[in-house]
Amino acid sequence: MRILTGVQPSGKLHLGNYFSVIRKLVKYQNDSDLYCFVADLHALTTFSSAKNQKDNTYDAVCDFLALGIDPDKCSFWIQSSVPEVTELAWYLSMSITVPQLQLAHSFKDKVAKGITPSAGLFFYPVLMAADILAFETDRVPVGKDQKQHLEYTRDIAERFNAQYGETFKLPEPEIDEETAIVPGTDGAKMSKSYGNTINFFDEEKKLKKSVMGIVTDSAGVDEAKDHKNNVIYQIHSLFLDESEKTELRNRFEVPGTGYGDLKKALLERILDYFSPFRAERERIAADPAYVNSVMRKGTDKARNVASEVLKSVRSKVGILRG
Ligand code: ADP
Ligand code: TRP
Repeated sequence: MRILTGVQPSGKLHLGNYFSVIRKLVKYQNDSDLYCFVADLHALTTFSSAKNQKDNTYDAVCDFLALGIDPDKCSFWIQSSVPEVTELAWYLSMSITVPQLQLAHSFKDKVAKGITPSAGLFFYPVLMAADILAFETDRVPVGKDQKQHLEYTRDIAERFNAQYGETFKLPEPEIDEETAIVPGTDGAKMSKSYGNTINFFDEEKKLKKSVMGIVTDSAGVDEAKDHKNNVIYQIHSLFLDESEKTELRNRFEVPGTGYGDLKKALLERILDYFSPFRAERERIAADPAYVNSVMRKGTDKARNVASEVLKSVRSKVGILRG
């Protein structure tokens, strides 16, 4: 089973990113054929300076390596290092129409806000289809917001297969209901764009500020608290097994514990859980030679697969070069 996903290097990782996608990847590299990359070309659709773009890409690579992505167990690379993908995107763009792409949420949202979208943003779903189809992918683990992009990928693959003969497998999205929407500190979906994230690689003081800022109702220490609709509980339970969840529920339901203490317990859990990753991250980030060598190896593995797929695609569409 080949599993592939990409994550944009667009700033600090938060608990929503970790629990919906990253934690699963670390598991998949042990029992599946995992392909995973840093989507730096997609990140260009959101303007940033060249320095920022470079720093964010390097940071994202370090984050993934520190969180347990093991380049010996999976293929891990930076998107732009595999030029076969951008070439494939061009061929695939003939298998989708402008009116179809005009229906993409990411594109429509920008237009609705009165922003003139770039052609790059318009083309985003085609590049994403190429990311997936260049590697003969079976499954794509993503958050719920990426569902439409997977539908585009399948439509494009079907149209191409109908035009040129059976070429691409149709990939399946994998969206977990339990972690589809991790709430942020204000109860809305945790997202960089809402300023409600808990970034686990932040320094301790900043992390504390985010956790202590979680919005709660006004139940006092001596009152029973409703755990179900409580963000502290919803986030803390992501770290727990069933018996630990029962214990935590009791702390909410039996009067005697205030929200301040429940937040402190969550903060401690986050610090404990991520502290080995944090130390590893510092070590990796300080060793660019290691990071570069790992990326070179990952790129070679990825290009081997993509170049075979491209040979077949070029021949099917009538490109003279093999
Ligand atoms: P953000 O919304 O903060 O900009 P990204 O778009 O960079 O996050 O998301 C990277 C991955 O993490 C995507 O697969 C996305 O679906 C997933 N993801 C992001 N936020 C959440 C969340 N709050 N709950 C579940 N998954 C999330
Ligand atoms: N669009 C995805 C996101 O914003 C990132 C991405 C790019 C991706 N290419 C992909 C995800 C291919 C899965 C497969 O999160």
